[in-house]
Amino acid sequence: MISNNQVAVVGATVQLTQLATSLQLPLLAEHDNNYEFLLMEHAGMLTLCWQAAKQPVFLAIDFLHGQLAYRQKQSLQKEAVVKAVGAKGKERPSVLDATAGLGRDAFILASIGCPVTLIEQNAVIAALLEDGIRRLLQQQALNMQLIKGDAIVKMASLLIKPDVVYLDPMFPPRNKTALVKKDMQILQRLTHDAPDNNEALFQTALDCATKRVVVKRPNYAPTITEQAADFVIRTEYHRFDIYKKM
Ligand SMILES: C[S@@+](CC[C@H](N)C(=O)[O-])C[C@H]1O[C@@H](n2cnc3c(N)ncnc32)[C@H](O)[C@@H]1O
Repeated sequence: MISNNQVAVVGATVQLTQLATSLQLPLLAEHDNNYEFLLMEHAGMLTLCWQAAKQPVFLAIDFLHGQLAYRQKQSLQKEAVVKAVGAKGKERPSVLDATAGLGRDAFILASIGCPVTLIEQNAVIAALLEDGIRRLLQQQALNMQLIKGDAIVKMASLLIKPDVVYLDPMFPPRNKTALVKKDMQILQRLTHDAPDNNEALFQTALDCATKRVVVKRPNYAPTITEQAADFVIRTEYHRFDIYKKM
């Protein structure tokens, strides 16, 4: 859900006009400081400008340059998320990333060869993600497809069930002064009024996955549900709780 006066689109291209219409957002001819966020085109990428930050922050999803492109060239087998979904040897499970966000985990999984379906319910994040995936797939033959909407609804109606459902729902930082990266702060602002439906998300994921459900949590966070995980993979800041189906 997008709150009133939270987001507007700036620009006059056909794509931006269509985006404003489909998201039912105001379309502006020029910048307006009254909106917390502006969606615009910058350097050929759909870009979100967070105007309410101390300094304006720009967010676009770019898999082809910077940190993600660098990570893609490293040994992907060593990535904890790759181990967590069970992609080892020649096995490449199909993964449904039901809380896609900025698509970083999905990108790593697709880069090692897993077919990945992403679901994102926030319309602004989904638009950024769609743009990032479109540019990525023009350059690389990865198997990634995006579904927009609530994963609880979408998972229940999938005709082909994935091997793995991957969940990384939002979790508040441990304390208010914790250093949270700007892109995460933007996700938190955009999703702050979304209902907490983690239990339903987890139960639907368990019904949907044929092999396992993987839940990414900050190390300090409790499990997503009362059910204990079958096994856990830990990293410095996160853990992956793994629930096996068989
Ligand atoms: C922490 S972010 C995920 C980050 C992601 N793993 C990455 O690598 O960029 C969580 C995302 O899940 C989305 N989300 C939460 N509940 C959802 C649901 N029921 N259906 C679809 N998306 C959901 C939120 O809108 C948010 O964008």
